[in-house]
Amino acid sequence: MTPESHRTARPAAVAFHDLAPAPADFGAEVLAGLGAEPKTLPCKFFYDQRGSALFQEICRLPEYYPTRTEMALMGACAADIGACAGPECVVVEYGIGSVDKARLLLRALDRPRAYVAVDISREHLLAAAETLADEFPEVAVHAVCADFTRPFGLPPEVDGARRLAFFPGSTLGNFSPAEARDFLAAIADLVGDGGGLLIGIDLKKDTAVLDAAYDDARGVTAAFNLNLLSRINRELGGTFALDAFRHEAGYNPAEGRVEMHLVSLADQTAEVHGRTFAFAAGETVHTENSYKYTVAEFQDLARGAGFTAEDAWTDPDDLFSIHCLRRVAG
Ligand code: AVJ
Repeated sequence: MTPESHRTARPAAVAFHDLAPAPADFGAEVLAGLGAEPKTLPCKFFYDQRGSALFQEICRLPEYYPTRTEMALMGACAADIGACAGPECVVVEYGIGSVDKARLLLRALDRPRAYVAVDISREHLLAAAETLADEFPEVAVHAVCADFTRPFGLPPEVDGARRLAFFPGSTLGNFSPAEARDFLAAIADLVGDGGGLLIGIDLKKDTAVLDAAYDDARGVTAAFNLNLLSRINRELGGTFALDAFRHEAGYNPAEGRVEMHLVSLADQTAEVHGRTFAFAAGETVHTENSYKYTVAEFQDLARGAGFTAEDAWTDPDDLFSIHCLRRVAG
């Protein structure tokens, strides 16, 4: 029994570890992306307050299957997931999107020792960690404020237990395959010998299903994409005419990814931070990649990062996959 398991009367405490991540330089990255050829903007900047609300709305759209499919799959495979992960592990979640998935995982696991949420957004991290601490008083909940794309350490309190990294949501799809391999290798380092990774990966499928998921009928994904320009206007004194760009999204079969772009509807200019950028009619700003894998393709990628594929589960319609990987000793 850990001392934490005796905390009951007061609301369960969250151990907060602030690793003081360097904030992303929105202005510098926007100027670099718009100055590049072809023009790009980093998708990590979608998630300001409005963008995060729009993303939550996307997750409830009929066309956007990943969130609900992954949740249903986690529920359906809970026993298998618990067996594959093994007893008494420390869960390390990379980014806490919604507490719903963490809750399902903690319920599926056999006596999890601790749950460590790692996220760059302090407020969101603490709120999520507190919710989980209240619901799972027998689990030691740690909140680590850090940029999980860079090396970070875990609190010493969780040393000595087997580690299970958790990376749901197919967020890995935002990385190129080479970046994904490096990122998975860093996870393998963090979990160490005998450690594991439970990860959600969106599957390759019929193009029309993918296209609709990223270009929904109600235009929520369009608003999410265009919000990047609004955010530049709000935070960087940008002068984008929001009705002079349109959302474009679709599956690129050669690259195995869904791409999102903002297409300029006319020859025009926009200023950001006092710099002028010209856009030709039809020119696009590439805002996101979302790579899709077959189960075998993803397992190959994971092997290249030092994991063995222990198990993989897919839903009955083959839309989404959840993988349980083990770090190869050595
Ligand atoms: C949060 C990266 C998993 O790629 O499906 C949803 C983001 N973009 N609709 C995805 C997103 C447009 C999402 N991820």
